[in-house]
Parts: sequence; C-alpha cells; structure tokens
Amino acid sequence: MEHRQSAELYQRAAASTPGGVHSNTRARSPHPIYFERAEGPYLYDVDGNRYLDFVLGNGAIILGHGNPEVQQAVAAVIAQGLTTGSETRLAVEAAELLLQQVPTAEMVRFANSGTEAVMHALELARSATGRRRVAKVEGAYHGWDSQMYVSAWPDLGLAGPSEAPQPVPAHKGLDADVARSTIILPFNDVAATRRIVEEHADELAAVIVEPVMMDIGYVEATREYIHELRRITKDHGIVFIFDELLTGFRVAPGGAQSHYGVTPDLSTFGKAIANGYAVAAVAGRREIMDEARPGGSCAWVGTFNGHAVSMAAVGATLRQFEGSGVWRALQERMTYLEQRFARRAKERGVDVVLRGRGGNFHWYFTAESVQDYRSAATSSTERYQQFAKTAAERGIHLAPGTLSHHSLTVAHEQEHLDAFVDCL
Ligand SMILES: Cc1ncc(COP(=O)(O)O)c(C=O)c1O
Repeated sequence: MEHRQSAELYQRAAASTPGGVHSNTRARSPHPIYFERAEGPYLYDVDGNRYLDFVLGNGAIILGHGNPEVQQAVAAVIAQGLTTGSETRLAVEAAELLLQQVPTAEMVRFANSGTEAVMHALELARSATGRRRVAKVEGAYHGWDSQMYVSAWPDLGLAGPSEAPQPVPAHKGLDADVARSTIILPFNDVAATRRIVEEHADELAAVIVEPVMMDIGYVEATREYIHELRRITKDHGIVFIFDELLTGFRVAPGGAQSHYGVTPDLSTFGKAIANGYAVAAVAGRREIMDEARPGGSCAWVGTFNGHAVSMAAVGATLRQFEGSGVWRALQERMTYLEQRFARRAKERGVDVVLRGRGGNFHWYFTAESVQDYRSAATSSTERYQQFAKTAAERGIHLAPGTLSHHSLTVAHEQEHLDAFVDCL
C-alpha cells in the first residue's frame, strides 16, 4: 500500500500537534494513517487505500460507518441551524429511548465523553455518600481522570501482589495524591475483593467496574464476582457503578446489567449509543441522579451537553436497537467468528483464543486461562504484532496494543470475518 500523503500529513501534524495525533492510541509505526472517508465496514485513507475496519472508533461504531438513518437525522438537525446550549425535543426523546433500553435505570443525563460521564458518576457517588475514595479493578480503563487513570494496564513490576494490588498512576500529569487514593481490586477474585472493600467500606463512595473488561480485550466477570460486589456495596452503602461505555448494548440489548441480572446504582454509557457521534451518559437510580438537579447537592453543567447533533444521533441509533435485532445480528457474526478462528488456530497449531460477545472481541496468544489483567498480560506481544502486521498488509485495520479491543458492526459480512481469520 502506498502511504505518501499520510507520511506528508504526519510531517505537518508532528510540527503542530504532539506526536501528530489527537489521541495517543492512534499512533502507528512509522506514522499514523490519516483518513478521509468511511462507509459500512470500511475506512478510506488520504492515499485512496481502503481498510476493513475492526477498530470502529474504539467501539463507537455499531451500525457500520455512515449508517443512513443516523446520517439523515444528523443532516436534518444541521439544516435547522441549532447546535448547543439549549434544551431540545431531541434530548427528551434520546433520554426516553435510553431509559427504555436500560430498564434498570430511572433517570439519565448526557455528557460528551466517557471520561466525563465517569467523573459525573463519581461526583454523584461522593455527593450521595459524603465519602471521598473510590475503588476500581486492576487493569480497567475508565478514562483519563486522576482518580481513574490508575492501574490501567499497569507495569506489573510496580503493581504489588495479585491479591492486594497497589495503585499505579498512569503518568506524571495526574494529581498523584488523588491517584494514589484509588483503591485497586483484583478482578474475579471474590475473597480478596471482599476483604479489600470491607477494609475500606467506611471511606468508599463508589466501586466502579467494567463488568466485561473490554479495555484489556474481552474478559468476563464471573456471575459470582458481580453479584458479590452488588451485595457488599449495598450492605455498606457504597454506590455501585457499571461502566458500560463498551459493554453497553453489545454484551446484551440492555447492557451488561441485563446480561448479569444486576441493578447497579449508576451506569455510564457512550460510544455505540450514537454510532460515532460525541456523547456519553450517566443513568441510574432516581434518588442519586436527582442530586444533579439545579439546587441539588451535585452540580452538573456543560456547554456541549445535549448537543443537538449528538442527540439526533442517539435517537436515530437507539431506535434501531429496538426489538434486539441488531444485537442478534452482531451475536450471529460473533459466533461465526469465534468458531472459524478456533478452527484455524487448531489447524495452525497456535495457542490462541478469541473471545467476544455482541460484536466486541479480542484474541489472546497464550495458553493461560485469561480471567483478569495479569493473565491477559501473558498474551504474546510478538505474536500479536505479527498478526497485526499481516492484517495491515492486507488492508485490515486493527488496534496496535496486545491488550486492545476490537469490534464488529452489522455491516460486517462473513467474507470480512474470513479475511480477518485468514491473518492467523
Ligand atoms: C470502559 C471505558 N470507560 C471510559 C472510557 C473513556 O471514554 P472516552 O474516551 O469517551 O473519554 C472508555 C474509552 O475507551 C472506556 O472504554
């Protein structure tokens, strides 16, 4: 593939923008690819190359790029000239649609990114409990806030013993005191998690969990783990938050909470709820959510909240989720992909396992059973990079990290999945 124009753009971009990218995960060697168009399962770069996309806006695209219904709804609102800073019918409808999809939630409010939504959820929890500290799972990513960008893909040399993981701030720019105040839980270790939560119960405002850890690929919580967390947080008056930024509407039509049959106090959504437009949401119990009302105990403001374009995209996306046809279509593709991949791995004699559900998936080059960050980190970086290199040569767009996550859309057909599997 010829990348002359991407290389030239990189030269310019590197002069004006750190690393030539606006989010570090987009960096690639020898330079990022600069894109200009997308349609269905494909991305097109500035050199005219076509890529079969499995990154899909870090999981934000679920209906395929440029889904006609979403594009039409967005075009219609743009034509009306209204952008932001006011309340709209579109936002009322989007909120109602989201609550219909998540029957466990009673109220919802929109923000602009997952990081923001998580920050609002934590503020609501602090406000509701009068406590300050929060607990998260080792290896989980919940955005770049100082209290959360801790022990996300940590260096295991700094992370302490697996049953008592230590907070490892992701970088020097975080408020170190805040970052080190975060309590770290070992995923799927019920006894150790119970002990740590009980030890800190009086100071914990919230426990936040991504019920299927998709930011390290695809690692499901056991039902016992999730139900025990629900029980213990309830017993101690701790707000239990599900981060459904990625699991939302992929793990199951009502999100991971309907898959596990658990009602969290709050949950965060985003990404796939608007098929690529910038929006996120916090949903949950009325009693806690309502503290964000004007005059409540937890102020929540934002210039771009409920932006008309995003609200139009949420409405047009969520309407297509009604009746769970989208989820079933994604799950059919997942089953096909899992089976085809397992067959190929066996034929090639490679220790690799692909896991996924509802169109989010990842594959691990390891013989270990993957059940948390530490076991996921045994996946061979060399084998992953080899696979990613073969894929790139064949015009298949993958995420660069060994513990990244990948997605499918309803626009991905069998031939696309075959092309992916054939890279093994
Ligand atoms: C589970 C989870 N939470 C939070 C975030 C942060 O979302 P955003 O990138 O929109 O700030 C992400 C993004 O990757 C995520 O996957």
